Amino acid sequence: MMNKPRLEGKVALITGGASGIGEAAARLFLEHGACVVIVDIQDDLAHQLIASCTDSGKICYCRCDVRDEKQVEAAVSHTVTKYGSIDILFSNAGIMGPMTTILDMNLDDFDNTMAINVRGVAATIKHAARAMVAAKTHGSIICTASVAASIGGAGPHAYTTSKHAMIGLMKTACNELGAHGIRVNCISPFGVATPLSCAAYNLEAGEVEANCCATGNLKGVVLKAKHVAEAALFLASDESVYVSGQNLGVDGGFTVVSHSYSVN
Ligand SMILES: NC(=O)c1ccc[n+]([C@@H]2O[C@H](COP(=O)([O-])OP(=O)(O)OC[C@H]3O[C@@H](n4cnc5c(N)ncnc54)[C@H](O)[C@@H]3O)[C@@H](O)[C@H]2O)c1
Repeated sequence: MMNKPRLEGKVALITGGASGIGEAAARLFLEHGACVVIVDIQDDLAHQLIASCTDSGKICYCRCDVRDEKQVEAAVSHTVTKYGSIDILFSNAGIMGPMTTILDMNLDDFDNTMAINVRGVAATIKHAARAMVAAKTHGSIICTASVAASIGGAGPHAYTTSKHAMIGLMKTACNELGAHGIRVNCISPFGVATPLSCAAYNLEAGEVEANCCATGNLKGVVLKAKHVAEAALFLASDESVYVSGQNLGVDGGFTVVSHSYSVN
């Protein structure tokens, strides 16, 4: 038996909502009473997700490549037209990009990672915030960063650069949008077995999880997409009504401990 729904009456737009963390968030937000618009470029996965939801009238798909500002603007507009408002933006779409040394880095790949992970997030914040400000909605904006937003060596160079940049974007958006009652936060997961991480490391889901368990700080828990979605749910809900400008680590303490030195 579920406790009181935490997003009743709210409307959420989730980028990268067809897979992994975004899919888990879409299911959880729906379960908690929200109407959900999935934004992605994987049509088949998005339609399968919607077909598997019992309350399919409260979830829809809008194809949108976040690199294209016009498509982002249209996705926000579609959300407001269909469900009447936008209360929550979960700007989560991202890629890891190729694993290369900096000596061999292809700068076109670098630009593509930045175009999705930074420019795409900026575009979603811009257009969702415009709609929130126009409607005087005290909304919540959440961006998926990473442990690679805090430390080097936890992802490819472009990915690490993009996630560090996202923290800056979150802080400056928090500064401006606070005047409108809009909160802006990041969540930063440790490794989760999703298509992104499996493809990046060329491993099966079980192997990704085993690696994460071996290298993670917090033992006895396997981090799943739904755990990250639960952190997003907290930031999306009114339970975090005065939380803004934060980068919430969902990393079992990975980014605050020394991995090479310990006195105990
Ligand atoms: N999986 C991990 O270990 C991990 C750890 C830390 C942070 N993250 C972050 O979590 C977020 C979600 O990743 P995931 O692990 O769920 O991966 P995923 O591949 O399962 O999901 C990412 C989704 O983003 C979509 N996407 C990619 N490019 C897009 C574009 N141009 N326009 C619209 N949608 C696009 C993909 O189609 C996919 O559905 C990413 O920002 C990623 O950097 C993941």
